[in-house]
Amino acid sequence: MANQDKPLSQGSTGAADPDLPGPHQIRAQGRLSAVFEAQGSQSLLQAALAQGVALPSSCRNGTCRACICRLTAGRIAYRIEWPGLSREEKAEGWILPCVAEARSDLSLVWPD
Ligand code: FES
Repeated sequence: MANQDKPLSQGSTGAADPDLPGPHQIRAQGRLSAVFEAQGSQSLLQAALAQGVALPSSCRNGTCRACICRLTAGRIAYRIEWPGLSREEKAEGWILPCVAEARSDLSLVWPD
C-alpha cells in the first residue's frame, strides 16, 4: 500500500527529509536528455510529464520496471515500501521514477 506521508529513502547521502519541498532540478542523460523540475510531493514521472518530458512508463506503480533508470547524484524517497528493485539493483543506483520523489537536485541516466 502506498505511503505518501513517510517516503522511504534511497540515495547517496542518507535518509530522506520529507520537509524538503523543492523545486529540485532533475537532469536526465543517456538515451533521454532533458532538464525538468520536481516538487518533493510529485513523483519524478509526474513532474516530467507535467513539463512535457516523455519518460518511459507503463504501470506507474513501481512494478513493471518500464521507467527504470540510474541515479548518479542526489537523493530520492519512495512512495511505496517495496519498489520493484532488488537490493543489489538499489545498491547500484537503479531507481523507479514512477514511485520516486526528489529530495535534492538529481542526475539520472537512462542507459542506451
Ligand atoms: S512505470 Fe512501471 S515501474 Fe515505473
